[in-house]
Amino acid sequence: MKIAIIGSGYVGLTTGTCLAELGNTVTCIDNNKEKIQILNNGEMPIFEPGLAELVKKNVSQKRLFFSTDIKNAVKSAEIVFIAVGTPPKPNGDADLSFVENVAKEIAKSITNYIVVVEKSTVPVETGEKVARTIENSGVSRELFDVASNPEFLREGSAIHDFMHPDRIVVGANSEKAREKLEELYKPLNAPIVFTDIRTAEIIKHASNSFLATKISFINAISRICELSGANVEEVALGMGLDRRIGKEFLKAGIGYGGSCFPKDVSAFIQIAKKKGYDFRLLKEVEEINKAQTEFFLKKIEETVWNLNGKTIAVLGLSFKPNTDDLREAPSIKIISALEKEGAKIKAFDPAAMGHAKTFLPNAAFCKNIYECLFGADAALILTEWDEFKKIDLKKAKQQMNTPVFIDGRNMFDQKKMKENGFNYISIGR
Ligand code: UGA
Repeated sequence: MKIAIIGSGYVGLTTGTCLAELGNTVTCIDNNKEKIQILNNGEMPIFEPGLAELVKKNVSQKRLFFSTDIKNAVKSAEIVFIAVGTPPKPNGDADLSFVENVAKEIAKSITNYIVVVEKSTVPVETGEKVARTIENSGVSRELFDVASNPEFLREGSAIHDFMHPDRIVVGANSEKAREKLEELYKPLNAPIVFTDIRTAEIIKHASNSFLATKISFINAISRICELSGANVEEVALGMGLDRRIGKEFLKAGIGYGGSCFPKDVSAFIQIAKKKGYDFRLLKEVEEINKAQTEFFLKKIEETVWNLNGKTIAVLGLSFKPNTDDLREAPSIKIISALEKEGAKIKAFDPAAMGHAKTFLPNAAFCKNIYECLFGADAALILTEWDEFKKIDLKKAKQQMNTPVFIDGRNMFDQKKMKENGFNYISIGR
């Protein structure tokens, strides 16, 4: 099929590339000329494992194109995906102005029947607003359908998640649109949940909110574990093996971050409020998340005591491993708070340091783990990158001023750390 993807961020670019890999002809559009130029030069604007290789392959096989020209891409497309950003407004509402602008742009170029698909996470009823916008621009109702097909891929494992989804959700109010999307996703051999558009929109917000709730739940349990001398890792295992609970997303830590959970939870609270429901459960999920970062800061202060003039080594900056994404990363809040107290920050991240300089102008960025640990009064683990697991503990201890590890991701065995002479502090154990 001929596909246009409007918006070439994490979701748009991965979706477009994977759909090209499935044999479709895909044009990824973005209004950021620089980004399109980077892609057309064979480079990548983001770091996502395996994506660069897949882009290269599909570009060379002439199934994947990049352009700033919506008009041409829409004209020849059978399906157009809207994958632009829906950033949070100060009150937590999703800002849908990019979606509206794109709908107007798409409307200008519709000549043959197309399905316009919402891929971005949007509040319930956005589909109807997109349809109305296109219709108000003078396009006849027979020439298009709107569908909602929310994306569930995670950064860091985006290609795998796209190619092997647990389920695909297709919300459509017309048989024609439903069939088009069914045909598109046939090669993935995944269960498809067909719903109306509003239901599909709610599924996305409900899914992300539920996952965030699971994380806040285990973070709350981690506090109880600390207060009662239990071990949260073992509690999570003991709970998670019950299939009704499931072991995923029960990792206690420094709170969820990223471009999705914080934004989607607050957007869902706002959506519920507008509809007349006070979603107090989700408000508490947000509160627990905020408190978890604050609690971690307290742990640092209690361990290091006076922060003024102390050198703190930070291992891991991205909001999760295998990405360079720093949006809503707990590291930013933690580092800024420590700097406010007068601490000197040395940081190392395997992928995110290029971007980090703009977020953290006062931190010193190091070439590797050991350079980062050199002269440190304490080390913090803020992202669970695999390579941190392989740290040579003897060498690490030699580099540090004082052998203190405060681990926000429970990466190490407590006994082993103690045996190696570290004062090791972690979460909920
Ligand atoms: C999330 C969802 O998992 C995807 O299904 C969804 O498609 C995506 O949002 C989106 O809406 O676009 P993502 O934000 O990429 O994906 O990353 P996650 O792996 O979900 O992690 C989010 C945050 O939760 C990270 O800060 C991570 O460290 C934290 N987390 C995750 C925990 O603290 N504990 C866990 O057990 C799991």
